[in-house]
Amino acid sequence: MSILIKNGTVVNEDGMHKEDVLINDGIIVAVGKNLDAPENCRVVDAADKLVMPGGIDPHTHMQLPFMGEVAVDDFYSGTRAALAGGTTMIIDFVIPAKDSTPIEAYKTWRGWADPKVCCDYALSMAITTWNDKIRDEMTEVTKPEYGINSFKFFLAYSGMFMVRDEEFYQGMIHCSKIGALARVHAENGSVIAEKAKALLAQGVTGPEGHTQSRPEELEAEATNRACVMASQANCPLYVVHVMSKGAARAISYHRSKGAIIFGEPIAAGLGTDGHHYYDKDWLHAARYVMSPPLSRDKSTPEALMDLLAAGELHLTATDNCTFNCHQKELGRSDFTKIPNGVNGVEDRMAVVWHKGVNAGKIDPMRFVQITSSTAAKIFNLYPRKGRIAVGSDADIVIWNPNDTKIISKSTHHHACDFNIFEGMEVRGFAETTISRGKVVWENNELHVEAGAGKFIPAEPFCPYVFSSVPHRAKMMAPRMVVREHERVAEITMNQEI
Ligand code: URP
Ligand code: ZN
Ligand code: ZN
Ligand code: ZN
Repeated sequence: MSILIKNGTVVNEDGMHKEDVLINDGIIVAVGKNLDAPENCRVVDAADKLVMPGGIDPHTHMQLPFMGEVAVDDFYSGTRAALAGGTTMIIDFVIPAKDSTPIEAYKTWRGWADPKVCCDYALSMAITTWNDKIRDEMTEVTKPEYGINSFKFFLAYSGMFMVRDEEFYQGMIHCSKIGALARVHAENGSVIAEKAKALLAQGVTGPEGHTQSRPEELEAEATNRACVMASQANCPLYVVHVMSKGAARAISYHRSKGAIIFGEPIAAGLGTDGHHYYDKDWLHAARYVMSPPLSRDKSTPEALMDLLAAGELHLTATDNCTFNCHQKELGRSDFTKIPNGVNGVEDRMAVVWHKGVNAGKIDPMRFVQITSSTAAKIFNLYPRKGRIAVGSDADIVIWNPNDTKIISKSTHHHACDFNIFEGMEVRGFAETTISRGKVVWENNELHVEAGAGKFIPAEPFCPYVFSSVPHRAKMMAPRMVVREHERVAEITMNQEI
């Protein structure tokens, strides 16, 4: 099955040129000017359009069991929605329950995802408790037959997923040893739990309590702590869902000191803000409950986009974790019981384009970086993913930068019954999406098949992330002073930290 995309402008992270793209059997086989169509080849006209690597969303939670509920976007509806928005790959999180193990949970997630995914996917894994078995299974799942190369630690959700600092530190030391990237949900979960109790005792039971129990300082503090601990563990760190200026500043500060840290703002944090939590309509406010909360500082979304433009933050995701209104209702009399999470996987590309490119903050090449190629590099999938080049997978979005659309629950492809971007008009959207060399979205219609996507294993020791780690290990090696016969010598011990 061949497709020739003609007359478009091919945009990669490092250049944009008017070129055609020829696809055969799921792979890009030629990129160049005036390519001829082979026999039986479908020609897609992309005049006035941009031909870009399909989006990679490195942070989703399809059908996640969480807070007593299960997220309504499963691997079918979630990946359909992704494709309708121009995203051709997701990286979802395996989150073992405290009494489960990484391998058990991995099998569960593969069992859920493989028969349902409509686009390619990879897995990242959360570490929710710490012991020798967990450590050994972490090592095991980084082997090619499992294909995990990143682990996430929660510093929030006390009593559920949260790990203690010493567990987080040991976990990162192990990540560094096995060549896996550490990822962190950075909020001070202990203080949040205390503040939530106090607010409820004072009668603040509505969604405004959610944001008041999680002041931005608690995100900034945990982000700073995570960065310090990652440096001490000599482990590259990826901070998921950076929601506040303070957290972004902490990342920037530690990077300025040479730490290997990546910061991920999400569509929700770039596209809207936390004023909704004070809405008089309880359900309206509850729909936006996620953690860390949307910032109550109205200038935050623009500031986060500026930091993406400046290279202080590095890539965008969504944290897509959707719950319907009746699920949000479970917290009607206690905000701590509102399932946390919002949509984003369908709208991320359009929201980032609108708030970034149309606002004049980023150009299309930076757009490709922050929606696709940087994720491919960080997770060791580049240039198979994240690039329009000969030999790369034919995961492509043909982008219409000129027309507008209005985001709405009535037209979205999510399984959830509301959309946090409801009514937002965006100029620029995915007109056609090609996944694994097949047109899966065109003329506002999806042509997808459950299970057509494939699991993409990710290898550890990604050079983009890990190249300086061994040198840092040498610099950080413990030093011992040998004192003999009044002669004092300083030696460097040749051992790992
Ligand atoms: O509120 C959120 N973010 N829900 C999903 C779980 C997480 O923290 O990533
Ligand atoms: Zn999180
Ligand atoms: Zn509102
Ligand atoms: Zn998440």
